[in-house]
Amino acid sequence: ETVYAYGMHLLPGVIDAHVHMRDPGGTDKEDLRTGSMAAAKGGVTTFLDMPNTSPATISQKMLEEKLTLASVKSVVNYGFFVGATLDNMAELKKVTRTPGIKIYMGSTTGDLFLKDPGMLEAIFAETKLPIAVHAEDENIITRNLEELGLTRNVTDHSKIRTPEAEASAVRKAVALAKEYKHRLHLCHMSSELALAEFEDHADLITAEVTPHHLFLNESDYMNLGTLAQMNPALKSASDNAALLQALLDDQIQIVATDHAPHRFEDKCQRYPDSPSGVPGVETALPLMLDLVHKEKCTMEDVVHWMCEGPALVWDIMEKGRIEVGYDADLVLVDMNKTVALRGPHMQTKCRWTPFEGREVTGWPVRTWVCGKEVYREGEFDLSRPGVEVMFDHSRGGYWAGIDG
Ligand code: DOR
Ligand code: ZN
Ligand code: ZN
Ligand code: ZN
Repeated sequence: ETVYAYGMHLLPGVIDAHVHMRDPGGTDKEDLRTGSMAAAKGGVTTFLDMPNTSPATISQKMLEEKLTLASVKSVVNYGFFVGATLDNMAELKKVTRTPGIKIYMGSTTGDLFLKDPGMLEAIFAETKLPIAVHAEDENIITRNLEELGLTRNVTDHSKIRTPEAEASAVRKAVALAKEYKHRLHLCHMSSELALAEFEDHADLITAEVTPHHLFLNESDYMNLGTLAQMNPALKSASDNAALLQALLDDQIQIVATDHAPHRFEDKCQRYPDSPSGVPGVETALPLMLDLVHKEKCTMEDVVHWMCEGPALVWDIMEKGRIEVGYDADLVLVDMNKTVALRGPHMQTKCRWTPFEGREVTGWPVRTWVCGKEVYREGEFDLSRPGVEVMFDHSRGGYWAGIDG
């Protein structure tokens, strides 16, 4: 087939290295079918899913159950993190077919918060897989909560989950990574204070930022209320600027969404009964392309942060289905298309977005996974399942990938 693409840009498919597809156990919010369709629509051809499902992904057996589910339901390529608990060290030491171990250093959706600091250190000391952390210090969160008293206003969320809480956890994780020379990835950095806790050190420590921490801040509670509630919490406008600068400086290597769908009705409960998290897998590429349109970064930067960066950080190798040569995970992008983001237009099961009404220029229009077109201007070909991606952790770090 000949594809006519005059005036368009053909980019590598986006790798979203941080999503919550809610499958199994949370399929009222999202599942691997709806979430992967949202991904394809957003130009995302591979996602890495987090372990805080029900049940949580904490063993080889549960990981393989998810891989089997995805092989049937996902229209894009996939991989699954394994979660650390107080008693699954034996699994963490031998688990395979995973990008790495996810550790929750603070409480959030699900029950994977690892409350024992001794266990945290033991995982750095005794395991080999790269470690990704949700870095928020639960002691500081608890202290802030106690000082504030009864919290009924969502703006308190940012007074509880402060830059200090993030910076403190980042400091601990970075110290452990250096002590045990263990590959560490800092998920969803949200504050300038936390950025000061680690250097540009990508053979050992890498970091990510979400579109919502780049483009939203505390002033957005006014319009969004609890729809703007997520962990880590939104910070200030100057944090937005510092995070973009950290991307431009290569201190942060990847943009990942932390796609965390919740039902609209649940999000509209009064704080703090409302759950934390926002969807993002299908809005990330348009939001980043809009930055290109506004000349705040280049198209090459976006490819760096959303395609090459995550592939190098997580050592992604594609098994693919084509026997000779490389297969094609591609997205065709129309930089002349301007459309406002709208909840009802969303493919994600939750059908709302914290970016409601925002006009963005630069849209994915067609998406190919392993050489097969799965999305074309509003239409899907669901007969094309994605494939499991493989991870080669033998190269040792992000820069090793670039140089080699
Ligand atoms: O806001 C969040 N939502 N942060 C997390 O760390 C988890 C996520 C979720 O799963 O809902
Ligand atoms: Zn997290
Ligand atoms: Zn997350
Ligand atoms: Zn492929």
